[in-house]
Amino acid sequence: MLLPKSGHMLNKIKIMKSIKLGLFGFGCVGKGFYEILQSNATYKNSIKTVVVKDQNKIRAIEASRLSYDKNDILLDEEIDIVVELIDNTDDAYFIVSEALKKGKKVITANKKMLANHLEELIQLEQTYGGILLYEAAVCGSIPIINILQHYYQEENLESIKGIFNGTTNYILTKVIKENLSYSSALQQAQSLGFAESDPTSDVEGFDPSYKAAIVAASAFGIFVKPDNIIRSGISGLQLLDIEYAKKNNWELKLQVQLQSKNGVVWLSVLPAFTNQTDPLANIAFENNTVVIQADYAKEQQFSGKGAGDFPTGSAVWSDLINIIDNKRYPYKKLKTNQNVLINPDGFIKVYVRSENGILDTSDLPWQELENHFKDKLDNYTIGYISLKQLKRIIKKYNSSIFVALLPDSEIKLNTAIKTKELETARF
Ligand SMILES: NC(=O)c1ccc[n+]([C@@H]2O[C@H](COP(=O)([O-])OP(=O)(O)OC[C@H]3O[C@@H](n4cnc5c(N)ncnc54)[C@H](OP(=O)(O)O)[C@@H]3O)[C@@H](O)[C@H]2O)c1
Repeated sequence: MLLPKSGHMLNKIKIMKSIKLGLFGFGCVGKGFYEILQSNATYKNSIKTVVVKDQNKIRAIEASRLSYDKNDILLDEEIDIVVELIDNTDDAYFIVSEALKKGKKVITANKKMLANHLEELIQLEQTYGGILLYEAAVCGSIPIINILQHYYQEENLESIKGIFNGTTNYILTKVIKENLSYSSALQQAQSLGFAESDPTSDVEGFDPSYKAAIVAASAFGIFVKPDNIIRSGISGLQLLDIEYAKKNNWELKLQVQLQSKNGVVWLSVLPAFTNQTDPLANIAFENNTVVIQADYAKEQQFSGKGAGDFPTGSAVWSDLINIIDNKRYPYKKLKTNQNVLINPDGFIKVYVRSENGILDTSDLPWQELENHFKDKLDNYTIGYISLKQLKRIIKKYNSSIFVALLPDSEIKLNTAIKTKELETARF
């Protein structure tokens, strides 16, 4: 028996029928999102125009929907929802900011563009009355931005840590669990489509640093430029590091960490040796995870596919459903966390390994030492070093050193370092 439809339902069906959206990009994510809508009767005809770049590519879209001119979406008054899924950061910034200036509702997955322009884009959203949603930009199908913006809109968070990059987690899983070399594991990741032909953004940790910057706005109400995040990647990984992890029965993860304490937030993207009991330890291959420590909810962990056509397309679709309902991110914490100090100096316990010909790691400006090892080829040192010095050292030596956190690494303020130990510390 068919039930009579309420006024609200009828209104909703009418709205659904009249959705006209413009899609920029028809690559991995754009095509995945398009196919999700095509397989759903409600949204099948909602895409009015698809703008792409290369006029020579053959695509499975009707010619009547296809365009190469951004103004076919931006200047079309019938299109009030713009979905931006292109790979060019500057063009994406232009498209998103122009659409917001026209008061349109905008969905983007472009993490690099967001990380560099988030504050300004939120201003445009507020000034012109549009909406900006970007769930797909962080950890693909894990709905972390919605969780932070809605469930945790007011509750104080102590920390967020996680695996925000599938390519590096795939490589590290293969290297640790299957004894593959770094270069073979990278090649496999490339042939499976996880890693780009130029993997720099993933393996040097830039990609997760963009995501950390975006998460910081929702979790702690702060705007952080990606350059301000302490970052080192996995491209310097060598056999000694892998043996060190195995000897201790540790996993190795590229860990994003945002820690908040007494009005200070520290943000880092660093390789980390983790205990088997660490929530990150069992997240294997290209999967992502986010672990939240909240004042009242305590620990929560969310895991899933961090990339790919359908997982990321699913996050864009979820944004579409929310944007049709005029749901926006409330940014409650932006209003309360005005005076937070971001990445002030402090001391952190790290492992630094280098080839002997390049650097004797014991010569670095350690504040407190725990261990030093040297053989014919390599040497490593474990101890506390200042965050400022660590940033400088990573920049100077880049992939000719390997830096990692230890399972008991924590950041200490200057006063917590015991000067007596400094004076007497010996290897
Ligand atoms: N891949 C993932 O799993 C994933 C996950 C999360 C977030 N993201 C983000 O999603 C976005 C898209 O990534 P993707 O992997 O789908 O990229 P992709 O496969 O390289 O596709 C990029 C698309 O952008 C189009 N394009 C580039 N510049 C354009 C311009 N100026 N105007 C119109 N179209 C333009 C390209 O057009 P042509 O087809 O004509 O070359 C192509 O269709 C990026 O910001 C990425 O960081 C991706």
